[in-house]
Amino acid sequence: MSSIHSKASFTGDDFHTAMKDVYEHSMLEKQKNAGYFCAHCHTPMVDNLQGIITGTAKVDPNDPKAQAAVGCTFCHSIESVHDGMPTRFYDIAADGSVKGPGRSTKTVSFHNIVKNELFDSPDLCSGCHGYLKNDKGVSICSLKEEEWDGKSTCQDCHMKEADGKPAMTSDRKTHRSHAMSGGHSQEMLDSASKMEIKLSQSAGAVKATVNITNLTAHKLPSTMPFRMVLLKVQAKDASGKVVWENFKGDPMKEDPGAVFMKVFSAGDKVGVPTWDAEKIAMDTRIPAGATITRDYTVSAPGVAEVEASLLYLLLPAPAVKQFNIKPDGYLEVPHPISQATAKL
Ligand code: HEC
Ligand code: HEC
Ligand code: HEC
Ligand code: HEC
Repeated sequence: MSSIHSKASFTGDDFHTAMKDVYEHSMLEKQKNAGYFCAHCHTPMVDNLQGIITGTAKVDPNDPKAQAAVGCTFCHSIESVHDGMPTRFYDIAADGSVKGPGRSTKTVSFHNIVKNELFDSPDLCSGCHGYLKNDKGVSICSLKEEEWDGKSTCQDCHMKEADGKPAMTSDRKTHRSHAMSGGHSQEMLDSASKMEIKLSQSAGAVKATVNITNLTAHKLPSTMPFRMVLLKVQAKDASGKVVWENFKGDPMKEDPGAVFMKVFSAGDKVGVPTWDAEKIAMDTRIPAGATITRDYTVSAPGVAEVEASLLYLLLPAPAVKQFNIKPDGYLEVPHPISQATAKL
């Protein structure tokens, strides 16, 4: 299986391994017990889950249940979800029954499939995606409470109808895709936003107004604190040469209004890992459904057109260095997700 959930364990994801190493190292430095509480959401199927979380056991990288990460049987055994600190937790069916949305009547004969309304609700996802606080009470992510618009369910966008039967014996022609794509899918990213640019001229200068609309049902970029969206604006002359741009080097210094992300701080250190966070230093992500506007005065001679691009980064370049993450040609590269051009 190639969905992101099957790679949620550190056994299937170099980035996670790197973060796990940084986390365990930092916890040991503080003489804390280096339990791997990440397992709650990243390897929820392992037998010794409690021991791994409290630090009395380690995840065995060769355990198929660790490798399976968030596997079929985890979701399809979920009975209910309840609030606990620092996150939500799932209750798993003790009778071994398989849970599902109950739409494929013919598959029911195969397993003991029990219809569970949770499969049509964002609550199925919110046990892992809903919220997470660190031990200082700082909200690391809170997809459901603060960010989700409450209108469409996660499944509407992340589990679209796809060709093919859901099971061998089914009489249906389509199934709901289990890819659950997000920031690793260009197709998904292309559907996340739309952009518009308008130009006007006054006193010899060109004014460019850029409108960005978030088309997702949560903040853009969403949840995962490393994610970053940048607005790059460039003015070109008639020959296509760039004569002006909103930033050349570090956008945080040159045009902070063009940076959309959530950043944590501890003391006077900004950009710390989630488990060290004492405060949210900034959260400039675009709210669900919102349109935000950025105005630029382009003071350069010979402007013929202005081009705006929205760039999505899974990981900002400094984090790749800071956490010693192996660059893979995708993770650390800006991906264009929206574009708009206007001519004078
Ligand atoms: C409450 C559940 C939960 C806990 C606990 C948790 N995570 Fe996550 N983690 C998630 C979810 C959900 C995502 C996906 C979010 C997204 O992509 O926006 C994620 C994403 C990640 C990613 C990014 C993966 C990628 O390829 O982009 C890394 C790395 C990661 N977590 C590491 C950790 C580490 C290390 C810990 C423990 C210190 C941890 N997580 C604890 C739920 C959790
Ligand atoms: C992250 C949670 C999750 C994981 C992991 C998961 N599923 Fe699902 N599955 C769902 C949800 C939610 C639905 C309902 C989608 C809908 O119809 O709205 C579903 C629907 C289905 C259905 C259709 C049932 C019906 O009545 O239409 C089948 C079959 C299925 N899943 C099989 C699998 C298999 C096989 C795997 C492992 C490869 C798997 N699922 C992994 C959440 C999950
Ligand atoms: C048992 C915990 C768990 C459940 C339940 C769960 N997820 Fe996830 N999800 C994760 C983790 C962990 C990751 C990060 C994987 C990684 O390490 O890259 C993730 C990643 C994702 C991503 C990001 C994909 C990407 O490209 O980075 C999306 C989208 C997503 N999940 C959607 C859903 C939806 C929709 C549901 C409900 C149908 C759901 N998840 C249920 C734990 C869970
Ligand atoms: C209207 C469509 C839509 C709905 C509804 C929606 N999402 Fe998303 N989601 C997207 C798009 C598009 C992206 C990619 C852009 C981004 O990362 O923000 C995304 C990204 C994500 C990511 C981040 C992936 C990453 O790589 O960091 C996660 C996790 C996620 N969604 C989970 C959910 C959950 C859980 C729900 C339900 C509470 C939900 N989404 C509802 C469209 C939607």
